Amino acid sequence: MRRKIAAGNWKMNGTLTQLEHLNVLAKRHPTPKVDIVVCPPNTLIAPATAQTGTTAIAIGAQDCHTATTGAHTGDTSAQMLSEAGASHVLVGHSERRCDHDETDRVVCGKAQAAIAQGLIAIICLGETLQQREAGSTLEVIADQLAASIPDIATGETAVIAYEPVWAIGTGLVATAAQIGEVHGFIRAQLIKRFGEDAGQRFRLLYGGSVKAGNADEIFAVADVDGALVGGASLNCDDFSPIITALENSSP
Ligand code: PGA
Repeated sequence: MRRKIAAGNWKMNGTLTQLEHLNVLAKRHPTPKVDIVVCPPNTLIAPATAQTGTTAIAIGAQDCHTATTGAHTGDTSAQMLSEAGASHVLVGHSERRCDHDETDRVVCGKAQAAIAQGLIAIICLGETLQQREAGSTLEVIADQLAASIPDIATGETAVIAYEPVWAIGTGLVATAAQIGEVHGFIRAQLIKRFGEDAGQRFRLLYGGSVKAGNADEIFAVADVDGALVGGASLNCDDFSPIITALENSSP
């Protein structure tokens, strides 16, 4: 049985006052049936973990470097994030792939560094609208999967987030059929590479304009083990019902 995950990605949003939303979330979900992870900007990781303390909310980062230390101005290593209190880190988010030209090879190195540090790597992938319209979605996903997931990854140390680029922050959501097709394909690819048991243990998240209003339908899709939520994770009143919908979805 895979424990589901509701993950929030605050992106480059939030100053200290934003942390109040974590207090409210922690109070509303004292003993959740799913993992709750919130990924604030790096500046908020230490205060966020100080605040969430022993609550059920885990704090993650949005990126890490491939190296542990060195001359990489402006970057943050997995070790530093871990010391600040993070337990998870997103790698390969499409905004990083696009804004910072991150290749699958770099994403794989970041996931490897995160896992080596004991962080859970949430490895993101997804096709652009152009790729979908060209009919190459599954090919793109296969390539990203093969090249972005390090060999050391397991269902305990890595989570895969499928986020169609055209659905991120656009209000456009993939249909249940589209999500089902890609998640089923990802599961099959993981089983092919890691074997039946190990492949079944990876948790697969959908991301892209997930809201309270569409969460039930998305969580009913086979092989959807949770969501990576951007905009709707910024406000506890928007994020909380998504968590509840995930808790109420069938196992
Ligand atoms: P969104 O972002 O929910 O605002 O579409 C999702 C993401 O980028 O992880």
